[in-house]
Amino acid sequence: MGITATLPTALTGISDWADTELSDEGVRRVGLVHAELNSVALLLYAASLRARRRDRRLSGTLLALAGATVLGFSGYLGGHMSYVRGVGVNQTAFDPGPPQWTAVLDSTELGDGQLHGTDAEDAPVLLVRHNGGLYAIHNRCSHRGCLLSEGELEGAVITCPCHGSQFDVRDGTLVRGPATTGQPLLDVRETNGHIEVRTATRG
Ligand code: FES
Repeated sequence: MGITATLPTALTGISDWADTELSDEGVRRVGLVHAELNSVALLLYAASLRARRRDRRLSGTLLALAGATVLGFSGYLGGHMSYVRGVGVNQTAFDPGPPQWTAVLDSTELGDGQLHGTDAEDAPVLLVRHNGGLYAIHNRCSHRGCLLSEGELEGAVITCPCHGSQFDVRDGTLVRGPATTGQPLLDVRETNGHIEVRTATRG
């Protein structure tokens, strides 16, 4: 079963690895070592299966143990990439935005059909005026962290400049992947000639 699962597992890994070009080279090297170790483990398990079919049970068991050892180390590297280097995690998860209203732009600087990228405390925010409405969503793409403000706005849909994920700026919902989650929405208002945002209080 493990050998059968290799192909889809490798395909998802290659997809993740291919999208790490924005990270440093160290991440890509760790990814390559991870893939090579997985390949070695696959060969060991295939050899184990072959040995068992020929009734060489001891060889089969030892080969499987060697495969599990290699796979364990490879899994450690995979965890390192996700949990330490942040590959494949939701890039918007850790900076939800300011809890209080925070002025981020003069109202006059954002016309209808325009977008603007700014920061509210540590959170990057995308402001958009569309059909008279004013909207604010997280500016860092949930997929691999590119800034949506550098993408293209068409109607109410923003397209990420890196891999083409699309989001509805009115509520942050995901329109098209490869991102798997939408963008967090922020509350937004205009007061005394300023656009202000805060972490969304509505569901
Ligand atoms: S960073 Fe990949 S689609 Fe936005």
